[in-house]
Amino acid sequence: MKKIVVFTGAGVSAESGIKTFRDSGGLWEEYRIEDVATPTAWLNNPKLVLDFYNARRKQVMEAQPNAAHIALAELAKKYDVQIITQNIDDLHERAGSKKVLHLHGEIMKARSTKNTDLVYNLKTWEIRFGDKCEEESQLRPHIVWFGEAVPNMEKAYLQTAKADVFVVIGTSLNVYPAADLVAAVPENCELYYIDPSPNVKFEGPHFNLIKKTASEGVQELVKKLM
Ligand code: APR
Repeated sequence: MKKIVVFTGAGVSAESGIKTFRDSGGLWEEYRIEDVATPTAWLNNPKLVLDFYNARRKQVMEAQPNAAHIALAELAKKYDVQIITQNIDDLHERAGSKKVLHLHGEIMKARSTKNTDLVYNLKTWEIRFGDKCEEESQLRPHIVWFGEAVPNMEKAYLQTAKADVFVVIGTSLNVYPAADLVAAVPENCELYYIDPSPNVKFEGPHFNLIKKTASEGVQELVKKLM
């Protein structure tokens, strides 16, 4: 079975009403990364960090998977589809994708600040200051902050190395090490980039640019693959 590795960013969830980061009107215009998404931010002002991610969680819980998430889940009926996402939302999973690897964490999970093995599924939108794990340390969002290691990177490289088709959707490819995955795509692998404002220029005989939104672009991809 042909293996399709799909590498997604914020753009795949934009049509579900979740803001991207670096587009005009994106989240990083409203907040400073160093105030809300770093280990130092957490030390300096944990309540602000919790508020920021509580708002993200609330938004994700209200959002629904869009046509792109759904079409990618459908694709798994014909191909071996591995999703590798930079997104912290659970919209790929809710659309029905079974193989989803999150590089930057998962908003619907909390973990202990002291023991990284203690990870909990959240049922509500809120982590409060004072909410503790079973070992009595404060819970934090299960998110990879800027300056932290990306534990799933190794698994992502292993999956990418096995790809027959590699599809990049809705990412500006600005954030490393995640963006480095593209450099690990095997030489003869077909590469697609679906994005209405692509930020990187790929070249080569195996490259296909689909300059469209995720929902329209994935539809076109499916037609090309079939
Ligand atoms: N469909 C597809 N792509 C879209 C759409 C859409 N409807 N709308 C916008 N885009 C594209 C933009 O053109 C842009 O290239 O999505 C991309 C979003 O880029 P970023 O905002 O930089 O998001 P992303 O690349 O996912 O960011 C990477 O940065 O702050 C961190 O941890 C955060 O995982 C995130 C990482």
